[in-house]
Amino acid sequence: MSETTGSETSRRGFTAWLLAIGGTITGALMGVPLVKFLLYPMSAKGEAEKWSDIGPISDFESLTTPVQRPVIVEQLDGWRKTVQEKVVYITKDTSGKLQVLTAICPHLGCSVQWNGAKNSFVCPCHSAAFSPDGKCTGGPAPRGMDTLEAQVKDGRLAVHYKYFKQLVPEKEVIG
Ligand code: FES
Repeated sequence: MSETTGSETSRRGFTAWLLAIGGTITGALMGVPLVKFLLYPMSAKGEAEKWSDIGPISDFESLTTPVQRPVIVEQLDGWRKTVQEKVVYITKDTSGKLQVLTAICPHLGCSVQWNGAKNSFVCPCHSAAFSPDGKCTGGPAPRGMDTLEAQVKDGRLAVHYKYFKQLVPEKEVIG
């Protein structure tokens, strides 16, 4: 029968303590990427991934009425990447500068249509009306049509597509 000395006991205690500390540190280091992975959707939710091409800028420089164009929008929603086709309008503002408008109505989200005969955008759902530069001219919409960030690169017009909160008087990005 062997007897345990005091120094053996303290050596075992020290080793156990070292293992516990090592295990805790290793666990913490392995946990950081996991926590970042789990929280990722909160920071990445609904962000359009990149600029969407609209077409050659020369197609729009001399436009006199709004034109509609489809754009492909790649979006990261949580861990899932989605690719959707959206509609935008290219118009000129009151100073004659090109601008890109989303077709989503700021009232309840229906698709706003350009009506050439009325020289106005009209929403088919509750008859909101907007001037050619997107300002609200009638109906229940709380604000004008939302402008989107646009750029011209290598002779092509591109848009950074966004979604905006409905039913509020000020433009507010939600994704
Ligand atoms: S959704 Fe456009 S007017 Fe209501």
